[in-house]
Amino acid sequence: MNPILQVSGLEKDFCMYTQNEKIIKGCQELNFFLNQGQFLGIYGPSGAGKSTILKCIYRTYLPSAGRMIYHSKLFGKVDLAAATEQQILALRHQEMGYISQFLQVIPRVSAQQIVAEGLINRGAESGAALAKAQALLGRLNLPAELWDACPSTFSGGERQRVNIARGVISKPRLLLLDEPTASLDIKMQHAVLQILAELKQEGTTMIGIFHDLDLMRQIADLKLSMVDGALTAVA
Ligand SMILES: Nc1ncnc2c1ncn2[C@@H]1O[C@H](COP(=O)(O)OP(=O)(O)OP(=O)(O)O)[C@@H](O)[C@H]1O
Ligand SMILES: [Mg+2]
Repeated sequence: MNPILQVSGLEKDFCMYTQNEKIIKGCQELNFFLNQGQFLGIYGPSGAGKSTILKCIYRTYLPSAGRMIYHSKLFGKVDLAAATEQQILALRHQEMGYISQFLQVIPRVSAQQIVAEGLINRGAESGAALAKAQALLGRLNLPAELWDACPSTFSGGERQRVNIARGVISKPRLLLLDEPTASLDIKMQHAVLQILAELKQEGTTMIGIFHDLDLMRQIADLKLSMVDGALTAVA
């Protein structure tokens, strides 16, 4: 089987222009691959470079070195490190999803609209998209009286659930999850893992970052630990 994503020699340095052009290492010499439908879990301490990996794959950051060969539906084999901005936008629109560590709240947009937009952007009819958004928010136990409210006033865990619902609703082909369960209680963590397990069953390939190794073991097929920008296998 051909891997769906093959990362080799991935590096990201940050140049601090305001600090005498000091170089900060985000991640270095990363190599891994994953097949369709696999879940890669990445575990490690704060500041290790975990979010940097996801931001490179989603191309929020342009890597300093390396290749990220993704077998896309849209363009076939594409190196995400070298793809054009238009290709990246099309891939994000059609097949790549990213659940950020923190929800960026859009003023005056309700929780259910934020979630439904993940589908509407991909061509779904708005009534059907809203119904699916409500079903997902219900599964994530977000009280119905909050569905019409803007998440700017929500608690950390409530925001996180909106963020997860928005990321999973369109069932992307490749989904990047940055600490999807960090602000949730145990019951909610399991509800999220259940939703992710269903996505995996349907063929979504995922990379998820965790602070909790036991939780990661419950969902991940491949497990890596990250320390000081480098990856090692976890038993
Ligand atoms: N845009 C940036 N500019 C400068 N330095 C950055 C930038 N993004 C990340 N870094 C640095 O790169 C290193 C890795 O950051 P990253 O956010 O990947 O860590 P992390 O493992 O996700 O941490 P956490 O668990 O706290 O989220 C840190 O030292 C961070 O300060
Ligand atoms: Mg992070």
